[in-house]
Amino acid sequence: MISRGVDKAVKTNANELPSVKQAVDELFKKGLAEKSGCLNTSSPPRIAVYASAGAEPKTSECAADSPEKLMKLLVDEVSDMVKKNDSLLPLAAIREVIENLIHANFQEVVISVLEKGNVLRVSDRGPGIVEKKRALEPGFTTADSTIKGFIRGVGSGLPIASRAMAAVGGALKIEDNLHSGAVITLSLSQKTVSAKPNESRVRSRPRLSKRQKKALFIVVEVGSIGPSRVATELSAGLSTAYRDLRVLEEAGLVKCDKNGKRSITNHGINSLDSIMES
Ligand SMILES: Nc1ncnc2c1ncn2[C@@H]1O[C@H](COP(=O)(O)OP(=O)(O)OP(=O)(O)O)[C@@H](O)[C@H]1O
Ligand SMILES: [Mg+2]
Repeated sequence: MISRGVDKAVKTNANELPSVKQAVDELFKKGLAEKSGCLNTSSPPRIAVYASAGAEPKTSECAADSPEKLMKLLVDEVSDMVKKNDSLLPLAAIREVIENLIHANFQEVVISVLEKGNVLRVSDRGPGIVEKKRALEPGFTTADSTIKGFIRGVGSGLPIASRAMAAVGGALKIEDNLHSGAVITLSLSQKTVSAKPNESRVRSRPRLSKRQKKALFIVVEVGSIGPSRVATELSAGLSTAYRDLRVLEEAGLVKCDKNGKRSITNHGINSLDSIMES
């Protein structure tokens, strides 16, 4: 589907010879805006949060004008929701299954946050995954050159996600959606979920260096800040500031918007006291 769309875009803009990636971005934008077009992104990804079993979910939609932005937005939104509940669902697993939606062309994506963020179900109406067992082995991939413009495309994501889940006593399950598409469920075991809340918090919070704590408090103070300003405030190099912000991001303490500005997450706010004491 993507490649057909690209052919068309490349022909339309033949004089400008856009890169495949630019062409996909353009078509993606068009597809989301018009809810039609070659990419057939019929409706924006929907997130459904269930407060309790049997309750009506709270739903929201996410849209962006490029696959990268959409992947990032979804990862940020979902990891924020999961962390708000102090769930131990690993960010690496969340990121890999969300990034894999590119294989489904983001068709009819529904992300369900269940059981207080301890279960995450990502479903789509793409081609589905026929060879489920092999898809979990490193090196098995259907990523073509277009898709490789957006992801690594080396068949590492599902193995990473599955190992990350196993490491926290959880599991990754691949199923067929109704009629077509894939459903990936990340779930934590009852044992992990019923671990004492304090224990969970300690395990989910990384040990921050003095400089990383300082970077976190700069983010809190300024509200929305980019790596270069953080570097100035810390009197550190840009790459150091960037690395520190990544650590904070990985820990769910800060989030990055589409302009690269970092701001504190709810999880970050809730963790400030204990970080200060540590
Ligand atoms: N939501 C999905 N819809 C359709 N196919 C999928 C989906 N998720 C994964 N797959 C299939 O499973 C394969 C393996 O996925 P995996 O995440 O391990 O690797 P990848 O996405 O191809 O590459 P990488 O994760 O290294 O960028 C994919 O190449 C694709 O064929
Ligand atoms: Mg992948």
